Amino acid sequence: MAVHDGTLIKLDDVRKQFGDVVAVEGIDFDVRQGEFFTLVGPSGCGKTTTLRMISGFEQPTEGQVRIDGRGMTAIPPEGRDTNLVFQHLSLFPHMTVGENVGYGLKKTGVEAAERDERIREYLELVGLEGFNDRNPSELSGGQQQRVALARALVNEPAVLLLDEPLSSLDRKLRKRMQVELRQIHEKTQGSFFYVTHDQEVAMTLSDRIAVMNEGRIEQIGPPEEIYRDPASEFVAGFIGDTNLFDAEVVDRDGSDVVRVGGPDGFVVPSNGASGGVTVSVRPEDFTLVGDDGDFIGEVKERYFQGDQTNFVVDVDLDIDEVQVVVQGREGGVDTGETVSVAVVEGAPVVF
Ligand SMILES: Nc1ncnc2c1ncn2[C@@H]1O[C@H](COP(=O)(O)OP(=O)(O)O)[C@@H](O)[C@H]1O
Ligand SMILES: [Mg+2]
Repeated sequence: MAVHDGTLIKLDDVRKQFGDVVAVEGIDFDVRQGEFFTLVGPSGCGKTTTLRMISGFEQPTEGQVRIDGRGMTAIPPEGRDTNLVFQHLSLFPHMTVGENVGYGLKKTGVEAAERDERIREYLELVGLEGFNDRNPSELSGGQQQRVALARALVNEPAVLLLDEPLSSLDRKLRKRMQVELRQIHEKTQGSFFYVTHDQEVAMTLSDRIAVMNEGRIEQIGPPEEIYRDPASEFVAGFIGDTNLFDAEVVDRDGSDVVRVGGPDGFVVPSNGASGGVTVSVRPEDFTLVGDDGDFIGEVKERYFQGDQTNFVVDVDLDIDEVQVVVQGREGGVDTGETVSVAVVEGAPVVF
């Protein structure tokens, strides 16, 4: 029975306990048809356990997983319309690339001619046309991972489940595979459920992200929303870099503002908060100006990174220092220099 509101996977108050360890605390989310949905969070927060409950290799202690409207409780992994790609490759070493990709098709009785056609189509999709007769051992790590992808996609599952599939690749290859994964997703129009601890990968690839921490989901939304409007201190710190300041809501001329760093620091709108708060300011939401900024400081450290330059600026306020990032060629300030720092209006977030 298919549902028609575009929801493909639905988790309802799903909880998983191993002995005394609560791995997943009661989570809810929907993955929509055709969506690239990423579950991101630190190591040990419950991502793999969540994915394994969707694939059927684990059963929830409480709650329910639905796929396409069907409760999955009694459905074993092989009865679910999902396929899995892991971090550690699991190609069959004694089979050729083509045999690896066609393995699932053969098992379900797809005849040879159609099988060959589908193998060709999916090897082309992952950029490995003509690789049919190679052995996995003759391929690079990135190529092997693409074969694993082709093998998981070839029988066109309703959902492709990916558990840190790029973690074992070096940075350059990882970046290239990110672009390719996104393109593969667009071409297949399939639903991808992706698990990673790497917030950069999550931001680059996803239509929507769920940020997980200690078995709970802290926020679900499109990457930009999560980055610009984090729902918690944890999300602000985990997704991207940020400055977190303890601050106080005070009265200024009859209205509430948040004062950061004491009387000589800067103020931001309180947005209804009161008492002690935490303020998050992204490094790119501070700018270094000639003068007339919000406060002054001295450049303590400077890290040139090519496309951007990171600064640590010492300030003589109730906060010790601020991290500032300057894009492009505008980072020509040296350590020891006094700078005026301005806050981009509307950018700070108050918790
Ligand atoms: N089979 C298991 N038995 C006992 N504890 C487990 C088992 N699988 C996972 N855990 C525990 O559940 C928590 C979440 O693990 P996992 O889902 O693998 O996290 P992640 O994938 O986010 O790194 C961890 O504390 C882990 O040690
Ligand atoms: Mg994991």
